[in-house]
Amino acid sequence: FLRDYNYYLIVNVFLYPMLKFSTPKSFNATKPRKAVTLKASEGSNRLTLKDLEAYKDPLLVRAARGEEIERVPCWLMRQAGRYQKVYRDLAAKYPSFRQRSETTDLIVEISLQPWKSFKPDGVIMFSDILTPLPAMGIEFDIDNTKGPIIQKPIRTMEQVDELYDIDLSRLEFVSSALTHIRAEVGRKSAVLGFIGSPWTLATYIVEGASSQHYRTIKNLSYSNPDILEALLRKLTIALTDYIIFQIDAGAHVVQIFDSWGGHLPPKDWDRWSKPYLRRIIREVHLARPHIPLTVFANGCGGLLERIAATGADIVGVDWATDLRDARHRLDVAAGDADSNTVCLQGNVDPAVLFGPKAAITEAVKDCLVRGGGRRHILNLGHGVQPGTPEDAVAHLFEVSKELGFSANL
Ligand code: CP3
Repeated sequence: FLRDYNYYLIVNVFLYPMLKFSTPKSFNATKPRKAVTLKASEGSNRLTLKDLEAYKDPLLVRAARGEEIERVPCWLMRQAGRYQKVYRDLAAKYPSFRQRSETTDLIVEISLQPWKSFKPDGVIMFSDILTPLPAMGIEFDIDNTKGPIIQKPIRTMEQVDELYDIDLSRLEFVSSALTHIRAEVGRKSAVLGFIGSPWTLATYIVEGASSQHYRTIKNLSYSNPDILEALLRKLTIALTDYIIFQIDAGAHVVQIFDSWGGHLPPKDWDRWSKPYLRRIIREVHLARPHIPLTVFANGCGGLLERIAATGADIVGVDWATDLRDARHRLDVAAGDADSNTVCLQGNVDPAVLFGPKAAITEAVKDCLVRGGGRRHILNLGHGVQPGTPEDAVAHLFEVSKELGFSANL
């Protein structure tokens, strides 16, 4: 009560008069947004606690900060995509992935498709981890069956030297889409930006496509480590700027996908992924300290403590790790359970969505209990798979909102 009352005093005595008599600043310097003014309930010139609710940060952001929350927020990786009929219909009309992901109106429309269907607590922008590459001189395409294709894989120092500093003016479609999405969802949901980690992007850039064993890039790391280092350094600088660009356009949270980090033995991850992640996170935290950053790696079980040591605010956990074990390990690594504010995100098995509704309900319950109700964002352990029934996804969201909190289970 005292906390709420303090909040009430601060807002009514200081913030409300200030906001009433000043012009609020827009979060986006280049695109001024409509001014937001606080309104008190009708018939009163005082704000009630209920009014204040409307000005709180989105639930997901508060959970990421370790605040006490009314229910565990839920969004799903790859919640915009091929499993949705509205998406497939739109993709039939605009068959090129690059067109769909590089046209502001289409990005906004696709990102909002799951928002309209399920009202998730996070809305991720429709894009790809490869999207920023052409802005630094690497062309790519997405083949409907094979996935990403890099026309000229990079394997020599001359090719690395030819890459240029990221030209953010070529990524305007990303910033304007984020600004539109943020205006659309307001504070009802968190807007999520994302990037691929330097290592994970390098796997595509060096291999030239998706890979199963990563033989070419691993061979490069053994035989010509200086080339791989130079490439990762360039990507690190570009991606730091790209994250800040997404934040300034409206992202509440930015997720770093180190999707293929788990393919490295931990000591190699320490060399080829961790330093670059740390550098990005340190720089972004210095530049935009209020924005939570997430790191997700597939096969993270052997890397959890290492991932937390990158400085990530949220650690994504895949479904092969027990969330309770993950929490315990990270609390031990932090040395003091109370001071550790790392938030865990995950980790329902995406395959459960192909099962009966009762199994989905059970999986969500179990995940909420193991997550412990605080510092937890409910998600899948990886993305929604193509072919997943839409009503299974709807059921997962419904159950998550009904149960919401491990204390209710
Ligand atoms: O899946 C992950 O591990 C997340 C990280 C990641 C993304 N793209 C983010 C993304 C990875 C590894 C990629 C590369 C990529 N791009 C792949 C995977 C190929 C492989 O090696 O296994 C594919 C198939 C693409 C092309 C692509 N990107 C398609 C066809 C789509 C449409 C949506 C769908 O159904 O997959 C995307 C969109 C995409 N890629 C999003 C994200 C975060 C969209 C936003 C969302 O999550 O809703």
